[in-house]
Amino acid sequence: MLNQAVNPAMRVLVVGGGYTGLRFAEAVAAGGAPVTLTRRVLPETLPGSATMRWLRFDSREATPLDPQPVAGTTHLLISAPPDGQEGDGVLQALKPLLQDLPLVWVGYLSTTGVYGDSGGTWVDEVSPTAAAQGRSRARLEAEQAWLSSGLPVQSFRLPAIYGPNRNPFAALLRGESRLIHKPGQVFSRVHVDDIVGALLHCLALPAERRPALLNVADNAPCPSSETLGYAAHLLGIKLPPVERYDAIAEGMSAMARSFWRENRRASNRLLTEELGYRLRYPTYREGYRASLAEEAAAAGVHSA
Ligand SMILES: NC(=O)c1ccc[n+]([C@@H]2O[C@H](COP(=O)([O-])OP(=O)(O)OC[C@H]3O[C@@H](n4cnc5c(N)ncnc54)[C@H](OP(=O)(O)O)[C@@H]3O)[C@@H](O)[C@H]2O)c1
Repeated sequence: MLNQAVNPAMRVLVVGGGYTGLRFAEAVAAGGAPVTLTRRVLPETLPGSATMRWLRFDSREATPLDPQPVAGTTHLLISAPPDGQEGDGVLQALKPLLQDLPLVWVGYLSTTGVYGDSGGTWVDEVSPTAAAQGRSRARLEAEQAWLSSGLPVQSFRLPAIYGPNRNPFAALLRGESRLIHKPGQVFSRVHVDDIVGALLHCLALPAERRPALLNVADNAPCPSSETLGYAAHLLGIKLPPVERYDAIAEGMSAMARSFWRENRRASNRLLTEELGYRLRYPTYREGYRASLAEEAAAAGVHSA
């Protein structure tokens, strides 16, 4: 878990306590600030500590969030994707409640998908958005709904998120990975703890220095064959045979094809150079090693 300064006076609400939302909440709670998280369905056992509590919330249902447990919220993180409604369904469902809260910061987790296909060139926060595809267009509309809501919103544009329990290791071990080659194709990515780190870094800045749009990505966009090769090396197992993208694209899911159709490198210059954030995992190499070590520690296995 991250050990980064947290203002214990914050009262935090995370809408969407999934992979990233939970990791952020754990860092905030470890820093001494109380956090409330939401999920659409609350399972019987939920992770948590004395300063974390859970509520059920689904933007597609008519039942609004109970205002009593979230009264006094100063910081809000939206980590739920668009739900198919116009604008953003979470904003629509929560706006009356949010207007009555003493909010000083709202973080919205968006995606670098809003830049569309740049043909493999770098994209930064002033690059044009070219969200041609349905999913990315919905995301851009959701992001814009938050940014024009009148609330103090920062939108964090994220590439592929990885970290402990979300990485290529399990599929490699199950023999289910595919080594796909598409000439010139790269993907950007970010370790979940660098998202949390970037969020907390922004919170520690004076409000006027927080940019409305911020890419959070590592330094090393690269082909997925490279990252898969490194993951297999760490596990000491063989890679599957190489498959040519053109030969297999037709058999892929529409979702997978939509990822492969877009080629871009997400720049982190604003975050790292102008705002002074130091990446914990500048490339997938450090990030994969740390993820594997954390998984091994959780399983009680000693890793080198
Ligand atoms: N995964 C990636 O590589 C990636 C890349 C770029 C951007 N993003 C975006 O970054 C954000 C965080 O990603 P993540 O991978 O951490 O997400 P995640 O693990 O899928 O968590 C999403 C959370 O949002 C909740 N949620 C989903 N739909 C909702 C709705 N209609 N109303 C209320 N809550 C809802 C989910 O509830 P349940 O827990 O009940 O399912 C879950 O807690 C998401 O917006 C995601 O689209 C993800």
